[in-house]
Amino acid sequence: MPSVEGVPARKAALQMLDAVLRRGQTLDSAGQSARKLPPADQGLAVAIAGETLRRIPDLDALIDSATRQRLPDDSKPRMVLRLALAQRIGLGTPEHAVVATALPLVDGGPRRLVHGVLGTLLRRGLPAIDAPRLPEAVEERWRGAWDEEVVDAARRQIAVKPALDLSFAEEAEASAYADANGGISLASRHVRLESRPVADLAGFGDGRWWVQDLAASLPARLIPDNTATVLDLCAAPGGKTMQLAAAGHHVTALDASKSRLERLRENLDRTHLKAELVTADAPDWSPRQPFDAILLDAPCSATGTFRRHPEVLYRARPPIIAQSSELQSHLLDRAAQWLKPGGALVYSVCSLESQEGEAVIDPFLGQNPHFSIDPPRPGELPDFVTPHERGWVRILPGLLEAEGGMDGFFMARLVRSA
Ligand SMILES: C[S@@+](CC[C@H](N)C(=O)[O-])C[C@H]1O[C@@H](n2cnc3c(N)ncnc32)[C@H](O)[C@@H]1O
Repeated sequence: MPSVEGVPARKAALQMLDAVLRRGQTLDSAGQSARKLPPADQGLAVAIAGETLRRIPDLDALIDSATRQRLPDDSKPRMVLRLALAQRIGLGTPEHAVVATALPLVDGGPRRLVHGVLGTLLRRGLPAIDAPRLPEAVEERWRGAWDEEVVDAARRQIAVKPALDLSFAEEAEASAYADANGGISLASRHVRLESRPVADLAGFGDGRWWVQDLAASLPARLIPDNTATVLDLCAAPGGKTMQLAAAGHHVTALDASKSRLERLRENLDRTHLKAELVTADAPDWSPRQPFDAILLDAPCSATGTFRRHPEVLYRARPPIIAQSSELQSHLLDRAAQWLKPGGALVYSVCSLESQEGEAVIDPFLGQNPHFSIDPPRPGELPDFVTPHERGWVRILPGLLEAEGGMDGFFMARLVRSA
């Protein structure tokens, strides 16, 4: 059979989907399988896999409506059909190209099946799916922890490409940049632009800004201005380290990952900012002297980043969330020992799981009566953020939706009295 143009990209997308759904990899690391392809094909493969991951429950419902066969979840025909439909719905790929590039991925009976299902669905006409359902287990969890509105907002947000948020060291630079590039500023030292490739933007090489979701820029804003020494615990790739260094603190940035710290170093060099870097596993480390403040941006399920990384919704299964929550409590206990009396400890996670946020802080406070929550003061966070009555901050899907939304986040500032 003559080779069909565009098939290598679809093959790579299929491998990525398999790596994410069956082997629990991130889309970034799964994308390595496409490394040998020309850049345009690599980009297409990642886009197809991403569009698929945004809509799996709805794509599966379509597939099941067009065949009486019960296709196993991870069977090749189902995977190929998901990819094909996602291209038509999410990327607007012409019907003939969708079919022609799907069929070479399967042989024999499955090939006839894929052809038949695609034919049926394309003749019927595909729906837009602009508020795709999330995996059932995730919807149930979020409905239980938050409410139906949060699930609805998350459905709307997973369908659209998030805006691009930039953080600046200087407020004057941010407002000038927003004016010159058609951006909006939703907080101090922040500019939001429509989604576009970062390499196309002015000022990257000059180190005038770094990419950082608006929600991710909030925790560092809770480190009090007058603190001299700050430990940025779990710091790489350094979005928050750069904020802290730009605010004038003396920053020690610790992370367990050498390669991620390498990226942090590059980020600091590019932005002409300074921090002391430490490569260490946090539970095995202790500082020579306690710090005036600590920011613990703990490793987590990252479900708050589902708009950019839809695969988190499949990777973050309950045992992973439980494990993560245990590590977070352990890291928080360690960090608490390294803080000076009167110091502030900010805990944050880019997670939408209460188990990694509220449920980490509550037992910590129970066991550490010399710590209490210090709610954000007026002006510390942008006005659109309303702290919880307990004093912590929970960012849920739906907040600032008209302006393009934000990642899901949890943060709390704890102060040590003695
Ligand atoms: C949420 S990311 C940090 C993002 C970073 N704060 C920023 O704003 O760019 C969590 C980090 O924790 C690090 N990490 C995970 N386990 C760790 C451990 N046991 N000790 C130190 N760092 C750890 C990971 O390497 C990862 O870089």
